[in-house]
Amino acid sequence: MVEEIKHIHSYYSPSDLYGKIIDGLNKLGKDLSKITLDDLQPVDEFHIRGDAATKELIKLSEFTPDMHILDVGCGIGGSTRRLSHETGCRVTGIDLSDEYIDTAQRLTQLLNMEEKVKFHAASALELPFDDDSFDGVWSLQMNMNVEDKLSWLKETYRVLKPGGRAILYEVCGHKNTPQYFPVPWAQDSSMSFLVPPASFRNIIEAAGFEISVWNDKTDLAKIAFANAKQPVGEPTLPPLGVYLLVGKDIQTKAYNLRRNLDEERVSLIETVAIKPDL
Ligand SMILES: C[S@@+](CC[C@H](N)C(=O)[O-])C[C@H]1O[C@@H](n2cnc3c(N)ncnc32)[C@H](O)[C@@H]1O
Repeated sequence: MVEEIKHIHSYYSPSDLYGKIIDGLNKLGKDLSKITLDDLQPVDEFHIRGDAATKELIKLSEFTPDMHILDVGCGIGGSTRRLSHETGCRVTGIDLSDEYIDTAQRLTQLLNMEEKVKFHAASALELPFDDDSFDGVWSLQMNMNVEDKLSWLKETYRVLKPGGRAILYEVCGHKNTPQYFPVPWAQDSSMSFLVPPASFRNIIEAAGFEISVWNDKTDLAKIAFANAKQPVGEPTLPPLGVYLLVGKDIQTKAYNLRRNLDEERVSLIETVAIKPDL
């Protein structure tokens, strides 16, 4: 693994993550034989506006039950499972983090969804799939950790069937720099590679895609983080939360994300990019 990716891999590598999530569910008094997608939402949807955003993106995707979709940078698979549950399609998730993939697989078994939802540890820059394998691609908030965005998008393009749609929901830079750190996706600037929306759009097109939808969701992100405050003293954390994935300084990370949004240092874009059927 190249040095930059190792650094990012270790950021997303908590120990015994599945055990910690089970502890959290037990503390909340959940019956483990009856766990639902909603029970896991506080921890398994690691992107701005969580499950609300996932459901909007599912509508936008127009994915249908006969399709096989690839989720690139799937984390522990919350939106991967939601996508399959709502549309009936098969979904394969890949992520750089072996710990996240192990947790994604075990949570999927807990929910009895393993027939339609599968996971592999892999890099977005080197997808272990043949050309034209998937009917659609889905990628939520991964680009921030990827310096070589053109290689990632070319790989996405390669594995997508002609005419297929890629749904991307991504944090971008904005008018002002630098960003404040730490943020939820990075402890410091060495792990974060944000480009302004116009540059991101150019890179998507340079990979061969045609953009059919381009929505700026920054205002909704600002509302979602409007109450994030700078923490004072030891944090009080709930039994389940994304802090289990990326550390107990999550409130500082949320506060810095709020400042980055408010000061036009960060933006949020959702887009549908189509591989032309030439
Ligand atoms: C902010 S999380 C989003 C996870 C998931 N998409 C979600 O919405 O819950 C970013 C994810 O991207 C993954 N990631 C970062 N760089 C990657 C790469 N080069 N290849 C695959 N996954 C990567 C991380 O391991 C992490 O799980």
